[in-house]
Amino acid sequence: MIKLEDVYAALKEVMDLKNVRNVLLQKREGGVKVKFQLSAPADQMEELKKKAEEALKKLPDVVEIEIEEKPTTPVNVKMRRHPDIRHIIAVTSGKGGVGKSTVAVNLAVALAARGHRVGLLDGDVYGPSVPKMLGLEGSQLYAKDGKIIPVERFGLKVLSIGFLIEEDTPVIWRGPLVHKTYEQFYYDVHWGELDFLIVDFPPGTGDPQISASQLMRLRGGIAVTTPQDVAISDVKKAINMFVKMNIPVIGVVENMSYFRCPKCGHVTKIFGEGGGERLQKEMGVKLLAQLPIEPDIVKAGDMGMPVIVARPDSESAKVYLELADTVAAECERLEKEHRPGIPNIQI
Ligand SMILES: Nc1ncnc2c1ncn2[C@@H]1O[C@H](COP(=O)(O)OP(=O)(O)OP(=O)(O)O)[C@@H](O)[C@H]1O
Ligand SMILES: [Mg+2]
Repeated sequence: MIKLEDVYAALKEVMDLKNVRNVLLQKREGGVKVKFQLSAPADQMEELKKKAEEALKKLPDVVEIEIEEKPTTPVNVKMRRHPDIRHIIAVTSGKGGVGKSTVAVNLAVALAARGHRVGLLDGDVYGPSVPKMLGLEGSQLYAKDGKIIPVERFGLKVLSIGFLIEEDTPVIWRGPLVHKTYEQFYYDVHWGELDFLIVDFPPGTGDPQISASQLMRLRGGIAVTTPQDVAISDVKKAINMFVKMNIPVIGVVENMSYFRCPKCGHVTKIFGEGGGERLQKEMGVKLLAQLPIEPDIVKAGDMGMPVIVARPDSESAKVYLELADTVAAECERLEKEHRPGIPNIQI
């Protein structure tokens, strides 16, 4: 008598097994009945069904075949496109503490300084730090017509999960809650027309990242890293997440790349060097910028002032403005390429 493995083996010859669900074998007079669900896009259903029947008929003992059709529908692409936002950029890192939020905030301010209309969404459900970096702690959110009004600061429209939770209160985020929150912060907000929405992702490549990437029609992702090897191998995970989800990788920002002595101008590469360049070589992703260690960043951040506002003539500010131009140009290019920028998921 044939076994389940035989059925799978036969089907594997003619289709991807992800299309095959719930295979059952039932005894019938003179042999067995094979029953399974065929899950496939509607336009491929007939052909796959025929192939499956032919393959199964060749197996000994099979006297009856029942295929239940389960057509899958591609996710509605239109639903995912935010009508008012042109480029949505995710800033991620594989590892915490590499300066992701600092980069997200300063990139957003730099884009605004270049005359773009910019929103900043602090999507770090685990440790929202944008309110502090922008001096917006304790901000109250207001709604109009059932939609949240973002807080305005330094020419940015800002929304943070931190506005909704008390400081120092741990929140246990479960997958569905994260998804719901992202959904709300994306759709139920008066973003107005924006050229860029910068999203500060939580570190890592878990549920919240995947959830947000699925929800938003991302133009692309930026991965932040430091030059150390460990951080580099972590950033590879972040890059691979984008690749897997079919989201273009805009490039890598290497933070804390070097320290320039303010007295003599001597440059020290404290964390080693060449990390960003190595990534560029190995993974084919662009090294967008290398940012210096800037003691003023910490001070400015603590005062609620991004460094490019607090120290517009600093080296960091200069690099951020260049980064803003590079990112803007890259987004234009990706838009022209008509990359779908959405994950290829079937439900
Ligand atoms: N180039 C820099 N020079 C000096 N200090 C920096 C620099 N970049 C970031 N920092 C400091 O490092 C700390 C961590 O930065 P930040 O909060 O941006 O990291 P993060 O990756 O968002 O962290 P988390 O994973 O906790 O979200 C902050 O205190 C910040 O001020
Ligand atoms: Mg952060």
